[in-house]
Amino acid sequence: MWVAWSEGSSREVYTPPARGRRAVAREPNSVMSGWLCVSIACALWLRFAPLAPAEVAASGPAPVEDAAPALPPPGMDRVLGWLQYVAGDYAAAVTPEGRRLSDEEFEEQLGLLERIAATLCECRDTRARPLCGRVHDLVDEARMHAPPAVFVPHVQRLHAEVVRTFDIRLAPRIRPSLAAGRLLYKESCATCHGEDGRGDGPRAAALEPRPSDFHAAHVGERLSPYQAFNVLTHGIPGTAMAGFETLEEHERWDLAFWVLALRHPAVVPAIAVEGVPEPSLAELARTTDAALAARLADRSPTERATLLARWRRVLPQRLE
Ligand code: HEC
Repeated sequence: MWVAWSEGSSREVYTPPARGRRAVAREPNSVMSGWLCVSIACALWLRFAPLAPAEVAASGPAPVEDAAPALPPPGMDRVLGWLQYVAGDYAAAVTPEGRRLSDEEFEEQLGLLERIAATLCECRDTRARPLCGRVHDLVDEARMHAPPAVFVPHVQRLHAEVVRTFDIRLAPRIRPSLAAGRLLYKESCATCHGEDGRGDGPRAAALEPRPSDFHAAHVGERLSPYQAFNVLTHGIPGTAMAGFETLEEHERWDLAFWVLALRHPAVVPAIAVEGVPEPSLAELARTTDAALAARLADRSPTERATLLARWRRVLPQRLE
């Protein structure tokens, strides 16, 4: 799993921090080296940024309409992935009353928050400065075991601010192809995650942690294509999940959309969809299945399942 550091196990109940207080920075070696890499990457980005959009534009078929090339400093998409991970898992570390639930989970969450702080605070892009203060507030809150109901919205707000600050695209530049995603998945992923994405590929049994089962609700429902894109681009440190940075950006999006499609039935029956606004490609890319299902709360379970399958299997497609 993630590299994390340990801070003993104080179990006092959360009291909200005074505004403006700052945590004393702690920097174990693993975080330091990640920090250094990201700083160097940031510096390189500042130097070479003007060249990059042209490279990206050269890849793949017809662009999606509102696509505008924008490159955030490298490291920021990782920050978003880590923030999403913390938002999703913090409730496994701290109870609703603000008590520590699991030392291991808690330390993992703190370790991630430290990485986020290191990345944002060391980035030489001046736009990152206000975000540095914000993430230190989050570290303080987590150390005091802020209840998830208080803490998670703060994490989500910082996520939105990072996206806004760096104008980060959470959607593909070109429409994805599920057919291409399926083939790539077969070649590169099925050996661990299994042909159907149930985490049961031939290599799975020998791995710890095991490859994710995308059909499991706690995995598949809280994954958006953007999160899958992020994970499969960079991998997960300390696990068998490697990064696939060598694949083209549009191929990684094809894969990400396929990961979300494969948990829904391939044959989608026609049903009346009046009154249900269809999500755009950008919305589909950044939205989890859980959030899509919540929009359909007033529909019957069958209609909900059918509409979700349509949104994941039919809507995102470009025709080959
Ligand atoms: C060598 C084995 C291996 C291969 C090959 C592999 N993965 Fe993984 N993958 C893993 C493991 C192990 C995890 C779980 C890590 C964990 O639990 O933290 C994982 C996690 C993931 C996750 C995160 C899911 C979650 O729980 O949030 C995604 C998304 C993912 N893999 C997609 C892919 C895709 C797409 C490919 C192919 C391009 C791929 N993986 C190839 C082993 C693999």
